Amino acid sequence: MINPLRGMKDLTFEESERFEHIINTASTIAKRYGYGYIETPILEETALFKRSVGESSDIVGKEMYQFIDKGENDVCMRPEGTAGVVRAFISAKLDRQPVKQKFYYYGPMFRYEKPQKGRLREFHQFGCESFGEGSVYEDFTIITMIAQIFNALGIGYELQINSLGCKICMPKYKETLVSSLTEIKEELCEDCNRRIGTNPIRVLDCKNDTCQTLLVESPKLKNYLCEECDPDFKKLKELLDQEGIKYTVNDNLVRGLDYYSKTAFEFVSSEIGAQSAIAGGGRYDRLVEFLDGKPTPAVGFALGIERIMELVKMPEKEAEGYYMGAMTPEAIPSLLKLATKKRLTDKVTVEYSSKGFKSHMKGVDRSNAQYAVLIGEDELKNGTLWIKDLETKEERVIAINEL
Ligand code: HAM
Repeated sequence: MINPLRGMKDLTFEESERFEHIINTASTIAKRYGYGYIETPILEETALFKRSVGESSDIVGKEMYQFIDKGENDVCMRPEGTAGVVRAFISAKLDRQPVKQKFYYYGPMFRYEKPQKGRLREFHQFGCESFGEGSVYEDFTIITMIAQIFNALGIGYELQINSLGCKICMPKYKETLVSSLTEIKEELCEDCNRRIGTNPIRVLDCKNDTCQTLLVESPKLKNYLCEECDPDFKKLKELLDQEGIKYTVNDNLVRGLDYYSKTAFEFVSSEIGAQSAIAGGGRYDRLVEFLDGKPTPAVGFALGIERIMELVKMPEKEAEGYYMGAMTPEAIPSLLKLATKKRLTDKVTVEYSSKGFKSHMKGVDRSNAQYAVLIGEDELKNGTLWIKDLETKEERVIAINEL
């Protein structure tokens, strides 16, 4: 027997219904906010992710599904969606147009991580990317949209926010941070020591308890924000307060991808174990430029579908459509003809084996239909059918073409 690969899984029956419900709910809400659907390839040039997600990130450093294809191209299965959408935005020369563009997408992402509960090697994201709007109002609007999606799915969350500064304030902060980290270098873990040289702000979200204790005294980015970033972050907090969206400011929230600046945020759930982030995102005003496009401010997020599937409250299933069955085999062709016609507008389940009334009624229960339609010998002779409304319990015999 061949099984799926480690960290990958099939979605069937009840699970796939949850999956679809999340995608449908999120897409409907994203469209209300002006987002249009975009589909980009799963396979991209490896250089795309190195230059966007960043060489120093765990994703690029350790987790890429990277290989050389038959044409000697260095390619990679996408570990996330933003890089591909930015590449598509530039490929279509949308960076040369004055119009603001908003895209939503969903699909599989691949990271060669150590699988555990809530952490897969193939997982799915729903994401949104907004291009051309540099105002913090857009950051607020995106956070509000995610909150609305979670509310619609019946999911509780905690929101954490931070500001990562911009090209003006970040370098000054990094310099101060590096000299403070160098003083405690000996006591920090191996990963942190490496990061001091590659990407020092990633030291802040080290999961090692000793490192975290040592970091309490380290300089905080919020005290270094520039004349633009500081008031923007204050404005974001005021708007969230006004909207009644609760949040905590997490000074150590730096995100695991290198492209962020200014607003960064994460939605976490306390109900799904250690892998608690259910959505993450932020502003990435310099990424379009890094990938050779015209400088364009941008902000976005992605939801982790599998983690949300654990939490989502599914709406009650309402009875719908028709169950059609025959009590004599000769009636089946008539039922099939009727079903094809009815399926232009309604859900129809047809039972192909002819059987007695009682067994059909069991089938009706399983199908969750609103109407049961049966044709027996008498009905076939008379060109009629027996129909029962399972809600009102009303039963009738009517001409076939009356249905
Ligand atoms: P991310 O935080 O790496 O951000 O991923 C977003 C979400 O994907 C996470 O919050 C989590 O729910 C889910 N996720 C990540 N890794 C796994 C995994 N191994 N197994 C299951 N679920 C996982 C990004 O990917 C950015 N592209 C988000 C973004 C869009 N920022 C701006 N625009």
